[in-house]
Amino acid sequence: MKKETILNLPNQKEAARRQMKVAAEREEFVFEEAWKTLGVGKYFMVRTYGCQANVRDGETISGLLQQMGFQSTTDLEKADVLIFNTCAVRQNAEEHVLGEIGSLKQLKLDYPNKIFALCGCMAQEEAVVNRIRAKYPQVDLVFGTHNIYRLPSLLENVMETHQRTIEVFSQEGAVVEGLPVDRTKNYKGYVNIMYGCNKFCTYCIVPYTRGKERSRRNGDILNEVKQLMKNGCKEVILLGQNVNAYGKDLGIEDGFTKLLEAVAQTGIERIRFFTSHPRDYSFSTIMAMAKYPNIMKSLHLPVQSGSNEVLKKMARGYTVEDYKKLYDQMKQYMPEITFTTDIIVGFPTETQEQFQQTLDLVDYCQFDSAFTFVYSPRSGTPAAKMEDDIDLKTKKERLYELNEKIGYYARQNNQKYVGKVLKVLCEGPSKKNENVFSGYSEENKLVNFTGDAKEGEIVSVKIIDAKSYSLDGEVVK
Ligand code: 5AD
Ligand code: SF4
Repeated sequence: MKKETILNLPNQKEAARRQMKVAAEREEFVFEEAWKTLGVGKYFMVRTYGCQANVRDGETISGLLQQMGFQSTTDLEKADVLIFNTCAVRQNAEEHVLGEIGSLKQLKLDYPNKIFALCGCMAQEEAVVNRIRAKYPQVDLVFGTHNIYRLPSLLENVMETHQRTIEVFSQEGAVVEGLPVDRTKNYKGYVNIMYGCNKFCTYCIVPYTRGKERSRRNGDILNEVKQLMKNGCKEVILLGQNVNAYGKDLGIEDGFTKLLEAVAQTGIERIRFFTSHPRDYSFSTIMAMAKYPNIMKSLHLPVQSGSNEVLKKMARGYTVEDYKKLYDQMKQYMPEITFTTDIIVGFPTETQEQFQQTLDLVDYCQFDSAFTFVYSPRSGTPAAKMEDDIDLKTKKERLYELNEKIGYYARQNNQKYVGKVLKVLCEGPSKKNENVFSGYSEENKLVNFTGDAKEGEIVSVKIIDAKSYSLDGEVVK
């Protein structure tokens, strides 16, 4: 058995608990002198999976490691520290990561001084940590979503004692400010506005892995946005599991709208936000979106199902009629708005008729695109205990049928842009074809284009062709 330093282990019951309404404390991060040279001459690699919150966490992890003197590498052989920043939303994503870590067993045997770490949402799961301890001796460090700021100290312990070190807290602590960050792109910045989720949709593991809702202070967020602007940032993406609940824990009424307006008033060119929840969406937010040209008219609003019975079993807290009303209001005040959503098929006991209602809702909303999933039971969530009488074949058929419809509307919607000029934030050469540039338009459409452009520049692109999930165009002056 590998020698271990166990500082704290995850506990699912504790993770489900919500304390009384007390706003989280705010703490400033202090980087200790002794950590500064620990990584000098060494390399690190962070592999991030899952949502944008994880991407942003990955940027903090990179920032911390660089402050310790480590240099970044994309070469696995060269990396002295390899970090798996994981996602727990679906089982197959988990199996994929465990498979990857499993395949690195030999590398660790060949190079025992390499350090492998697991963090992110999977690290918050009791069952995963037990599995790692029993079957994955190649993993040297496990830390969770609530204690990323502890990375330097935990890594120091691994380097000094050569013992596997585990520290995962199931209850969130303070909101820690002042952490270093290594931004992936300087023209597009992710800004956390809140952490955690209190919604407890019955299928979802996130409230257990990311703790209760904690908002960052308004001033801290605005300072981060202003700092980004100083460094040439064109677009900020405000992040939270449920951004519409921003400020509730701090006792701020209509907190998200107020924050959104304050960010818009900084004059930054583009603002987006993820993820919205229909339940907490206020009318004032729609008005703010309509009022400020720098708030992008594109919204990701997960609906999950078009059946009221299923929505109830999911504990989503709204009806199909509520969703349609929100949708109609947005279209009324912002006719140009684009809509994307998330949909789960095959939720326990979903009938063919209930699935049909989801298809009907897609016909109503004609989404620009959607992330669609087959329901995946997550241990410890209420839905995992529900009787599930639908076989996988049926679930997959439903997913296929849904995707056909989503694809149809995606193509139809994209056709509307042919001949129009869109403003595109250039992200450099396209990943698929380096002879063309790619970037996102204000409508959040992926555009591949030719002509004169620089990475990080907003250019006017005339659209000449439309595909289901991208547009083709050329720069016009
Ligand atoms: N099974 C399938 N999809 C899920 N999602 C969240 N939990 C599950 C699950 N257990 C989907 C939801 C959510 C998106 C991020 O992932 O649609 O909006
Ligand atoms: Fe999960 Fe629901 Fe929270 Fe989204 S709002 S993270 S789906 S619990």
